[in-house]
Amino acid sequence: MSPVTFIVVGAGQRGNVYGDFCLRNPLAASVVAVCETNSKRKRNFVDKHSISQDNVFDDYKLIPAGLAQAAVVSTLDDLHVDMVVRLASLGYSILCEKPMATTLADCERMRKAVKDNNVLFACGHVLRYSPYTRALKKVLDAGEIGDIVNIAHIEPVGWYHFAHSFVRGNWRNEAQTSFSLMTKCCHDIDLLLHYMTPNKATRVSSFGGLYHFKKSQKPKAAGTATKCLECPLKDSCAYSATQLYIPNARRLNRGWPVSVVCEGAEVDAQTPKDLEDLVMDKLANGPYGNCVYEIEDNDVCDQQVVNVEFEGGKTATMTMIAFTEAVCQRSTRIHGTKGEIIGDMSKFTVFNFETREKRQVDPATFDLDKDGTSGHGGGDSGLMNAFVRALQTGDQSKVGCDVDDVFNSHALVFAAEEARRKGTVVSL
Ligand SMILES: NC(=O)c1ccc[n+]([C@@H]2O[C@H](COP(=O)([O-])OP(=O)(O)OC[C@H]3O[C@@H](n4cnc5c(N)ncnc54)[C@H](O)[C@@H]3O)[C@@H](O)[C@H]2O)c1
Repeated sequence: MSPVTFIVVGAGQRGNVYGDFCLRNPLAASVVAVCETNSKRKRNFVDKHSISQDNVFDDYKLIPAGLAQAAVVSTLDDLHVDMVVRLASLGYSILCEKPMATTLADCERMRKAVKDNNVLFACGHVLRYSPYTRALKKVLDAGEIGDIVNIAHIEPVGWYHFAHSFVRGNWRNEAQTSFSLMTKCCHDIDLLLHYMTPNKATRVSSFGGLYHFKKSQKPKAAGTATKCLECPLKDSCAYSATQLYIPNARRLNRGWPVSVVCEGAEVDAQTPKDLEDLVMDKLANGPYGNCVYEIEDNDVCDQQVVNVEFEGGKTATMTMIAFTEAVCQRSTRIHGTKGEIIGDMSKFTVFNFETREKRQVDPATFDLDKDGTSGHGGGDSGLMNAFVRALQTGDQSKVGCDVDDVFNSHALVFAAEEARRKGTVVSL
């Protein structure tokens, strides 16, 4: 069987994650075309995948039909919908990064385009595809803990990760991207729905807000500084940009988050000194050196709780919180009528109320596709493996969900945010 073929639209951080999967699995998948507006990223991506110049674009509207079987749409959030609608109309199957879109109406537009054109569809809800989640879901589906009555789930974003991405970075402003429950936790809401399937969500409430990253919380000793480099607290503030980025530069760590500060997936600096000089320049002149208390267009929640009621009166809670040591190491407790599962996205325990026995499940012992080199606990490769199988067979069920499921998952996130804003309970 020849490899399935992809065009990658948006060859940034995520586009490279999916592209790298193809390089590691050349018999299964190949990138044959790219659309990218940044010339350096485009050149690097073209070289990496040996893409013919005829198949290189910087405007997705110029992409013709028939270059590849599927398109990976991995541009920033607000660009997804128009790209997917056009590419689906040309017959490309779609892997769209999460979120689908930044409004419910645009999610609906994407759903319609996928269905009207009868193309295969997958969403970058990569956590569903990790060996951990698939092992846990197997235990749930086998009925080991009886009926699931309640789930308590927490997403600890991490204090410096939140400051980097959601205070200084791409996802700090709702109008530019979306609210943080969508940009950070649509994964987590999706997991709740996944675990509760076939019970559907019926009602939702939510509370939260931007608690800390605002002027009123700025330490007095920081004075009038708006840049960390000018601040008297630059060596002690928990959110100091110098504390976060300079040690990475000195270790010549060109990966995340330094790669983001330097505005490129690839950073050319070859010595620690060169990288430090580059980062210092970016901190002095770019958004990643800004004082976290002085960023006027930062308006997304740094903490939020969501309560969901499911069919049959079952319940789930989700907490998103910036102020944690753990970085995205979610913890989940699933309470069933016959047992309880406690997991940390790596391993989980299953306690059986009948036998009083507890066992630890290490997903590595499950017969699942594994790829130790992939991010999100193997979820990135898990998603690509599933989508490639769907493309090979023409069978949407290999993805494990369809565009309606993905739409419903986003609809719950929008409903939760509506509930938070209005202070009401929203029925679904
Ligand atoms: N699934 C996950 O866990 C996960 C994790 C991080 C990000 N994301 C999502 O992935 C998407 C991409 O995020 P990223 O971190 O890779 O961003 P990025 O900025 O690294 O990559 C986006 C790329 O799109 C390019 N681009 C911009 N406009 C374009 C256009 N009109 N045509 C073609 N290319 C264009 C940019 O130059 C850039 O290279 C976002 O929607 C983000 O929310 C998902």
